[in-house]
Amino acid sequence: MEKSKFIWMNGEFVNWEDATVSVMSHTLHYGTGVFEGIRARECPKGTSIFRLNDHVDRLYNSAKAYNMDIPYDKEVITQAIKDSVHLNNLTSAYIRPLVFFGEGEMGILPSNVPVCVSISAWSWGAYLGDKAGENGVKVCISKWKRISPESFIPTAKGVGGYMNSTLAKIDAVNNGYDDAIMFGDGDVVAEGSGQNLFLIKDNIITTPPIETGALGGITRKTVIEIANNLNFEVTEQNISKEDLLNADELFFTGTATEVIGVVSVDNSKIGNGSPGDVTNAIRKKYLEIVNGNDANSDNYLTLVK
Ligand SMILES: Cc1ncc(COP(=O)(O)O)c(C=O)c1O
Repeated sequence: MEKSKFIWMNGEFVNWEDATVSVMSHTLHYGTGVFEGIRARECPKGTSIFRLNDHVDRLYNSAKAYNMDIPYDKEVITQAIKDSVHLNNLTSAYIRPLVFFGEGEMGILPSNVPVCVSISAWSWGAYLGDKAGENGVKVCISKWKRISPESFIPTAKGVGGYMNSTLAKIDAVNNGYDDAIMFGDGDVVAEGSGQNLFLIKDNIITTPPIETGALGGITRKTVIEIANNLNFEVTEQNISKEDLLNADELFFTGTATEVIGVVSVDNSKIGNGSPGDVTNAIRKKYLEIVNGNDANSDNYLTLVK
């Protein structure tokens, strides 16, 4: 990881090394936190953050879902996110706001524990590797199921849920794949370990509904808008294993991942084994928007300064 200089921690910027927590933090013991993953990029008008308000809204909604009362107004957190990029002199950055319980009473019930917030920003390249955009990625069907929405709040980006993602990712990488597709209840596709999934068949684009346990991704929402504007039919429908293996194209979406073609599933080729035309058209449009090169970019971007 390319460390930056400062991290915003509970209301002020401190040196990266000084942004530390007690080992008795409730979140460290019980996984009780929520977070965001946001990207800022170097754009023609200056470094800009993509869909900042949507990310901040999701952070507060996630916290609310877990009864965590963030002790700062949205405006304070929004400004701190912008400052975390600017103060660290980053032209492009991945930004990670984290809301967690600090040290207080021990026990599962988080009572008398402070709600803490940190915002880190650092330089982070292509999540699935530099070649993934051009070549796509190879995935497996995970033996691990996405946590059921009956056991968890999938619309919230909760720290503890990522133990489920980590199991799937480790297993995929240990078996020579780049990532994994996770199924939900009822043997339908939910999403990747840290990405939403889209399928293309006969020019119709389908993504699993969030009821499968998939996160309501901000890139997912953007891609649905892009696909509609490009006059594709987009549906939110259950996807079976058979649908998956017979897809013309598949692609992952996510803030860290961006838009990346999935070119094989369990070593079975999808399409001709490289990112397809629809994937490439959507990826191109997405990159134009997030990099400030589209007529609509201003609707999505916030300058850090
Ligand atoms: C499990 C999971 N699903 C989907 C996504 C994609 O969400 P977004 O596009 O908001 O980054 C992420 C990334 O944050 C994720 O971790």
